Amino acid sequence: MTKADQAVAARAADLRERLEYHNYRYYVLDDPEIPDVEYDRMFRELQQLEAEHPELCTPDSPTQRVGGAPVEGFDEVRHLQPMLSLENAFTAEELQAFDRRVRERLGTEAEVSYAAETKLDGTAISLLYEDGHLVRAATRGDGQTGEDVTHNARTVDSIPLRLRGKGYPARLEVRGEIFMPKSGFERLNKHLAGQGSKTFVNPRNAAAGTLRQLDPKVAAQRPLEFFAYGVGFVEDGKLPDRHSATLERLKGWGVRVSPLTRVVGGADGCQDYYDNMMQERAGLPYEIDGVVFKVDQREQQQALGFVSRAPRWAIAFKFPAEEVTTVVNGVDFQVGRTGALTPVARLEPVFVGGVTVSNATLHNIDEVERKDVRVGDTVIVRRAGDVIPEVVRVLDERRKGEPEPVELPTNCPVCGSDVVRPEGHAVARCSGGLFCAAQRKEKLRHFASRRAMDIEGLGTKLVEQLVEQGVDGKQIQTAADIYRLTSEDLAGLDRMGEKSAANIVAAIQRSKETTLGRFLFALGIPEVGEVTAANLARHFQQLGTLMHAEIEELETVPDVGPVVAQHVHEFFRQPHNVEVIEALQENGVHWPSEAVTGSHALAGKTFVLTGALETMTRDEARDRIQAAGGKVTGSVSSKTDFVVAGTDPGSKLKKAEQLGVKVVGEAELLQLLR
Ligand code: IVH
Repeated sequence: MTKADQAVAARAADLRERLEYHNYRYYVLDDPEIPDVEYDRMFRELQQLEAEHPELCTPDSPTQRVGGAPVEGFDEVRHLQPMLSLENAFTAEELQAFDRRVRERLGTEAEVSYAAETKLDGTAISLLYEDGHLVRAATRGDGQTGEDVTHNARTVDSIPLRLRGKGYPARLEVRGEIFMPKSGFERLNKHLAGQGSKTFVNPRNAAAGTLRQLDPKVAAQRPLEFFAYGVGFVEDGKLPDRHSATLERLKGWGVRVSPLTRVVGGADGCQDYYDNMMQERAGLPYEIDGVVFKVDQREQQQALGFVSRAPRWAIAFKFPAEEVTTVVNGVDFQVGRTGALTPVARLEPVFVGGVTVSNATLHNIDEVERKDVRVGDTVIVRRAGDVIPEVVRVLDERRKGEPEPVELPTNCPVCGSDVVRPEGHAVARCSGGLFCAAQRKEKLRHFASRRAMDIEGLGTKLVEQLVEQGVDGKQIQTAADIYRLTSEDLAGLDRMGEKSAANIVAAIQRSKETTLGRFLFALGIPEVGEVTAANLARHFQQLGTLMHAEIEELETVPDVGPVVAQHVHEFFRQPHNVEVIEALQENGVHWPSEAVTGSHALAGKTFVLTGALETMTRDEARDRIQAAGGKVTGSVSSKTDFVVAGTDPGSKLKKAEQLGVKVVGEAELLQLLR
């Protein structure tokens, strides 16, 4: 080798080592040291060197992840140690029974230590490392033999092609889960749909389907990730005597393990972990379908042994399913405050995402047509976190006969006015305006709601009565009419005592003192939510200035695009709306000048929320922080100003403590919002 060749070889080796190191910082430590562009630059340099000097290219070079030649079929692989499955628990009692059995078999009264892990919703994989090199990757198969998917596993950036450091066993089977993050899954499905290809039902199927592709170039394009959760066969090497320590050891060798793993004590510790993860679930970037508890001491694991194909020392505590099937009993159209007609599927009640659901939104008529939902169909219903339940799709194979397609009504189901749907718009609307009782009800309900004018006691039921019956011969038409209500008026309604009537009138009086942001939000201008309302208030400071603003000026407000600007502009050009606003002010609704309310108190501050709050959901907290000018992000970094920790905070709290980020409780958050 010439001197020059030596220099090139050394440079290639150096680049490879650096790339591996930064991959490890990024995936395993979740703590990147350099920006992505820097990584890409090194990657390209190595690619170029290897292209010019093919003899320098090693099979485990980071450049070799892009996918080699397609395979003809999958070879069978015999696992060196069987891949087991897990027993399931679905209730707290079943969890306690598991812990009791464990202690009985171990003959101990003492609290057992469990490694608590998330149950990743992907597909199991076994990675065989020989002398630290990834030589084979196999699916679980029947537990004894699986399929060789090495060609695809090599394309997964979070699977190391080489182990780091020293001291790893000569042969080691690393066991873990391959999964597709939620965002990657969405992107993939959009892309597939765009191509007219078949989409995947869920991220698990997408991960499993990708792993079973013959052409690794396909897998290389798809966002697969990996977390290890254990080991199989071990030859010539010793591992720690606790499962949790084994995972730590794997991490040291550059294998990615979940940062959410904890060691907990007894059934109570397990239950706490479950409750906590249930809270974190919706906010995680990937799906988990439960948590897994494993007796931590290997000696205890060995004493417990196995039953058929599952270990006695582990259990999966499953979350309530987020997707279930049920039958559509009917499709109705609901009329919202802007007159929008929303198709709603009436369902045979089902338990999904932890609650019983009997209605699911179908969003708009286009969606009904696209999904081809018909009465009598069996459908998949999804409810994740606090999100409104929705119909995901129809199970075509279960359709009986030829039910009629659902059609958009030509007349409003509430007031009978014409339904209009401008060319190219997904949303159909009732043209009845305030003549339509449904729109009136929804407008008033929104006006009085907590985050708008906050009139306690003026809820759905009361609004319904007021709109349907009126009081004392007076119709309740607009928000301004609310301020003319007396306690005698209210006491005349069904099931309304004098005391409650007086309380509601007092609440109405209190609501007169408000802020411009709340007032604007309460008006129910289409597309103007709480955040936009606050931004408008901050920008214009005076209602009069906003009312006369031209589209161009409106568009300079943060968060306001052409559509919103158009709506706002239009709203204030309607004589009727101006009349209502004037009547409200005449009836005493007022607010301090925006300049002194400090509603931008949180401007420039970044928040992260973790754990459950008491007075509001996390979504509400986010909206309120944003309304006050703050920003809410999903993960803690050195740029985070505050971490708001509710009860049972998750790993974000720990991260905040590590980084020295200020942690506040709910009370302090409320203080800041004030
Ligand atoms: S342990 C000896 N831990 O769930 C126990 N499995 O039915 C073997 N899974 O096939 C599995 N997350 O694909 C274990 N933290 C975790 C897991 C996990 C997901 C999957 C795995 C396995 C299935 C068990």
